[in-house]
Amino acid sequence: MSGADIREFSRPMTGPALVPLIDAIEAGEKPVVAAIEGMALGGGLELALGCHYRIAHSKAQLGLPEVTLGLIPAAGGTQRLPRLIGFPAALDMIITGRRVSAGDALKLGIVDQVTERNAGEVAVAFARSVVDCPLVSRRLSTWPPLCPADLDNILQMALARAWQRGRGALAPVACVQAVQAARLPYSQGMQQEQKLMSMLFASPQARALQYCFFSQRAVGKWSMPNGACWDNSTARPIRKAAVIGLGTMGRGIAVCLVLAGIPVIAMETDEKQLEAARRVVMALLEKEVQKLAVGLHLGLIHFTLEQRYLREVDLVIEAVFEDLALKKQLFAELSSVCHPDTLLCTNTSQLDVDQLATATSRPDLVVGMHFFAPANKIKLLEVVFTSRSSPEAVATAMQLGKWLGKVSVAVANCPGFVGNRMLRPYVEQAGFLLEEGATPEQVDSALEHFGLAMGVFRMSDLSGLDVGWRVRKAAGLTGPGVPQGQLLQTQQGYRYSPLADLICQKGRLGQKTGCGWYLYEGPGGHMARPDPWVHAFLEEYRRVHGLQPRSIGQQEVLERCLFALINEGFRVLEDRIVMDPVALDVIYVLGYGWPAHTGGPMYYAGEVGLPRVLGRLEYYQRVHPDIPHLRPSALLRQLVAKGSPPIHKWMWHIEEGSSRL
Ligand code: NAI
Repeated sequence: MSGADIREFSRPMTGPALVPLIDAIEAGEKPVVAAIEGMALGGGLELALGCHYRIAHSKAQLGLPEVTLGLIPAAGGTQRLPRLIGFPAALDMIITGRRVSAGDALKLGIVDQVTERNAGEVAVAFARSVVDCPLVSRRLSTWPPLCPADLDNILQMALARAWQRGRGALAPVACVQAVQAARLPYSQGMQQEQKLMSMLFASPQARALQYCFFSQRAVGKWSMPNGACWDNSTARPIRKAAVIGLGTMGRGIAVCLVLAGIPVIAMETDEKQLEAARRVVMALLEKEVQKLAVGLHLGLIHFTLEQRYLREVDLVIEAVFEDLALKKQLFAELSSVCHPDTLLCTNTSQLDVDQLATATSRPDLVVGMHFFAPANKIKLLEVVFTSRSSPEAVATAMQLGKWLGKVSVAVANCPGFVGNRMLRPYVEQAGFLLEEGATPEQVDSALEHFGLAMGVFRMSDLSGLDVGWRVRKAAGLTGPGVPQGQLLQTQQGYRYSPLADLICQKGRLGQKTGCGWYLYEGPGGHMARPDPWVHAFLEEYRRVHGLQPRSIGQQEVLERCLFALINEGFRVLEDRIVMDPVALDVIYVLGYGWPAHTGGPMYYAGEVGLPRVLGRLEYYQRVHPDIPHLRPSALLRQLVAKGSPPIHKWMWHIEEGSSRL
């Protein structure tokens, strides 16, 4: 039982209500034993907490995930759980919404017994053994709260954690407030729980989070412009896979495959790289084995330098350097080494997958599988199909992503695919804001205050500034041979900020070199500190180029960066790179740290109001006519002209022939 039917939230609720039902079970004179198999989540766990005893199967999972939907557990969960397991453990489960295994539930004291056998049968036997025991002490609502001496301190720290984790989300904070009320007599605590729930239930944040929940499921129903879709395409089984290139990404991808139980051939170019990768991968796997407390066959992974092992694999994921010539050569080699039916996938983040496909003997079996760093943690996978990818290849990559525990989103091939394509105008605006007078920390703090996991400059320092530098060089925007314009730089006819290139030229590549847009404790450090050198560098740059710095407010930072990103999102829709705007929201929430409680960039645009987004873009475009990314997209204009329809109707308004596919 995984709690409420969320679809019911948008309709008038029908009875019977859960709270009186649970109270009646608890108050009853017959002992009630909850037999838990599978999931006991949300209302499911709250019901179990109202029973007098709980028996769980060893594979069962328990949790109160309401916070992830912008809500709190409101059928007594916030009042009974702290009474049962204490405030600190209850706060942790309720604020994070995390699930615990049956074994952990036993340790915490949530269940009375764990069994490997049929939980129902064990529960019946258990009931016989306790049938004569008095029930008085089994009714959790009558238990006095377990208040440790430092409870105030515990609650204060939980509140601070809720603010920090929530990045502006209300529900984690309300969770702490509700649990805090478990200090009061049960009936008063319940009143407080209901009050907080009513406030959240009607909130835009809860609606946005529920939209996220449904969106992440909706993207599984993928489709392609040629009519192929999830419903009419069959995935192939992947019995063995290979990962080629075991750098940052390849290592994480190999870990994902092994954790999913898929045998892996892991390949590198030389012994030294292979050894380094082996150490990291095995350490990551051993950590997972300890964490999950499950048996994992570490022999599933075979490290090698020899291509002959690739003959036996069903699918290859290539993660070598981001270099088109290198990748094309590798794909040509794979065509002759691998079985003709082997799927060839690339983890490229920017390169043209169509071009890679043409380098192979089987363009129909080539797709992009774009993972996000760290690949063993981030739940997103962009599956990039080309004009020649077969439905079967797409279905297989989508299915494999799911098997690896990712949310897979099918996207058509275009420069940067979806996520990185939308990111470009956003990063670009941030650079322009520095030229105009902002500092990296001003821009970042506005974005982080909005709820992004990391501001643009901290994110760039983390990824490495050389990544974008290489892309700009490849695009001919910087590097030898490109005229270094003067003053406000212009490249290829448009405004271009060379600030990031200048920073890279100084050897400041981000965290890895100990400095970038910020200063770190040393190479590989994580603590970003504002850097006086960067401030002086920006002042000098503005002086040399005759730029008068102005004070830039938080609102301008948000509008310039976020609306430019959203505007590109509308262009992605016009080009039919995806079939539905929910895909863009899923990609941003899961892959780019966009705050889930705003729904994602496109949903957020709808909430702000499309006329407002359009109006602000028009305003900024008048002020900066040399920035094409601020020019409102045709689709945005069209939608506003049609009275701003809701997000699920946007695709109806795309003009025929607008797609560049
Ligand atoms: P990396 O530089 O950390 O690793 C590349 C690895 O490939 C190196 O260990 C190198 O020895 C190996 N290699 C090079 N040529 C090879 C060959 N012919 N055969 C076998 N191994 C070979 O690079 P990283 O960051 O892991 O990126 C790999 C790919 O993933 C690139 O296409 C990149 O654009 C993409 N990507 C990177 C992300 C990131 O955040 N780093 C995110 C998503 C995609």
